[in-house]
Amino acid sequence: MDDRPYVLLSCGVSIDGYLDDATENRLLLSNDADFDRVDAERAESDAILVGARTVRLDNPQLLVRSAARRDERVARGLRPTPLKVTVTARGDLDPAAHFFAAGEVDKLVYCASSALDKARDRLERVATVVDGGEPVDLRLVLADLAARGVRRLMVEGGGTMHTQFLTAGLADELHLVIAPFFVGDSRAPRFVRDGGFPWGPQRPAVLTEVRQIGDVVLLRYALSDRCDGLGRDVTR
Ligand SMILES: NC(=O)c1ccc[n+]([C@@H]2O[C@H](COP(=O)([O-])OP(=O)(O)OC[C@H]3O[C@@H](n4cnc5c(N)ncnc54)[C@H](OP(=O)(O)O)[C@@H]3O)[C@@H](O)[C@H]2O)c1
Repeated sequence: MDDRPYVLLSCGVSIDGYLDDATENRLLLSNDADFDRVDAERAESDAILVGARTVRLDNPQLLVRSAARRDERVARGLRPTPLKVTVTARGDLDPAAHFFAAGEVDKLVYCASSALDKARDRLERVATVVDGGEPVDLRLVLADLAARGVRRLMVEGGGTMHTQFLTAGLADELHLVIAPFFVGDSRAPRFVRDGGFPWGPQRPAVLTEVRQIGDVVLLRYALSDRCDGLGRDVTR
């Protein structure tokens, strides 16, 4: 499926590989300089995707924060901030969540067929709700996004989403940031769940960059031949 968007997975983890702790409060796994790097990646994307659980737990805005970057997008004929995308099986999302309320940009909800009516009832005023299959099929999501003009998709979590993109071989690049502390609580979510990952000892991912950003480190990996050995998107 060569016409699917370029898919960049972006994630911050603790030294022991957790995405969060097990409390209700959001755990910050990055610093200001790295959040600014993430903001630059958002500004280069056509759409940002997170799983429904991240919408519920973290209540993220998923906007380009820098005014200069928003202006630069507008000068390129784009909306100031990318399209927002989420995936849900239950359709149980709050229309007042920042995901829907923040930013004058379209919001897309790919919903499992069985919860479509419920999701449309709740969300039709704030989002476009699309039948994603049962369960939602990420290939279908990517094909639909491509048809809507999305060429570059940034996936910002959580672990369920990262796991599916990786195990389905639908990721082109990974940006993994390691925070300088441990979580040490197996109730907390990991970067990925169990699964059959295309990259194992016999077929390692290609490390394209290691960058220290203050007290965190960014590791960049090329996961497909759409990302070259220097970490460049060759589809651009
Ligand atoms: N450190 C970071 O960079 C970072 C970034 C983002 C999130 N996080 C953390 O990650 C945690 C959340 O991750 P998570 O893995 O639990 O959840 P998630 O990936 O955010 O969302 C999972 C939910 O997405 C929906 N979903 C996923 N795949 C689906 C499919 N194929 N078909 C239908 N629905 C599907 C389901 O929604 P429904 O439940 O609605 O059915 C599922 O419960 C939070 O603790 C958050 O703080 C960390």
